[in-house]
Parts: sequence; structure tokens; C-alpha cells
Amino acid sequence: MKQRPLIGVALGLCMAAGCSVALLAGGCTPSTVSSDGSTEVTALKAEIARLEQRIPAPELGQQMLELQIRHDRLWWAGEAGNWNLAYYMVSELGEALRGIEATNGNAPELQPEKLSEVMPAIMDPAVRSVQEALAKKDKAAFASAYDRLSASCNACHATAGVEFLHIQRPQTPLLDNLRYAPDATP
Ligand code: HEC
Repeated sequence: MKQRPLIGVALGLCMAAGCSVALLAGGCTPSTVSSDGSTEVTALKAEIARLEQRIPAPELGQQMLELQIRHDRLWWAGEAGNWNLAYYMVSELGEALRGIEATNGNAPELQPEKLSEVMPAIMDPAVRSVQEALAKKDKAAFASAYDRLSASCNACHATAGVEFLHIQRPQTPLLDNLRYAPDATP
């Protein structure tokens, strides 16, 4: 959770404390242990914990916009029978879900439910059935798995009290500068 910013913070603090870069891989160990070395490390740990509290969680609504794009592109790729592209899109969608769980696992919008638990429980089976349909290159199975995926998005929206955000099959591609046809000439 919040790994990247923290690594930066930890590095910054280590540098300020005079740690040697070579020793950073093994943790924030001072290169020379002074008599108050352990006190320093404890203080640094407390400082990191304090800074962690101040890093705001990303906006869930912003993260959802990425899901919306992946969901849209997945449809057009599958609809065109471009199995590799569709498989890529559903994998990216899965990654985006993991990212949201990691960075926004306690999203206030889901409280008292825990997003880090609700999201995989609702979405993972639906993502898997899309992957299975794509692996079989079965367009009809893809279409029904896709509808199941959308229903899963909506199930969480209902849980969160935002059921008016209704996800459906797209009617027109969101962006048309990515080619969906598998065999079109450039
Ligand atoms: C774990 C629960 C959960 C799941 C799963 C989920 N959503 Fe959401 N979604 C929310 C919540 C909560 C909001 C409202 C966020 C806010 O208030 O900013 C939202 C908002 C949205 C919005 C509106 C964003 C905006 O601000 O304009 C879109 C679009 C969206 N979700 C798409 C999706 C799609 C597509 C899926 C499935 C692939 C999905 N969501 C799955 C909880 C979820």
C-alpha cells in the first residue's frame, strides 16, 4: 500500500540521515552506528509513519475512469474478434482493479464495507469468465461474460449507494484511434 511514495520518502530521509546508498537495499541502516543510532532509526520510523498518514488516498472516482476506459475497449476488441487485444484489455482491467485495492482499500465511499475485500469478491469471478471466453475465442460466450462483468461493476455501485452509475455495453467506441479490427491493413 502506497509503496512508491513511501520508498521516495524513506530514501529522502535516509539520505538526510547520511545513510550510504549501498546499505539502502538492506534497509535504512546508518553506515556508521553512532551511540544514539537506534534512537535515530526509531525517530525515522516514526517520521515515516507520520508522513504516511499525510499521503492522501487517490480519488476513487478518478480511478473508476480508468476502469471505464478499459471496460469500453474490452468490448470493442472482443466484438471485433481481436482476441489478443481483448485479452490484453481484460488483463489491464484486472491490474487496474489490483491497483485500486492496493491504494484505496479503505475507500470511504464503501464504508462500512472494505473495498479491498468487496472488489475482488465481486469482480474476480467475472474477470475470469471473460478470460475463459476469450481463451476459447467464443464471441457469444464473450458477450455474455461481458454482460456479467458489467453487472458486477453495477453490483458494487449498488453496494456503495451509487446505483445511478449504471455500466452497460458501449454503443460507440470512446476513442477511435486504436484499431480494433484484427486483420485490417494499416
Ligand atoms: C468495489 C466497488 C466498485 C467496483 C467493483 C466498481 N466500482 Fe465504479 N464506482 C464505485 C464507487 C464507490 C463510485 C463513486 C466514486 C465517487 O464517489 O467518487 C464509482 C464510480 C464509477 C464511475 C463514475 C466515475 C466518475 O466520477 O465519473 C464509473 C464510470 C465507474 N465507477 C465505472 C466502473 C466500472 C466500469 C466498473 C467495473 C469494471 C466499476 N466501476 C466497478 C465503486 C465500484
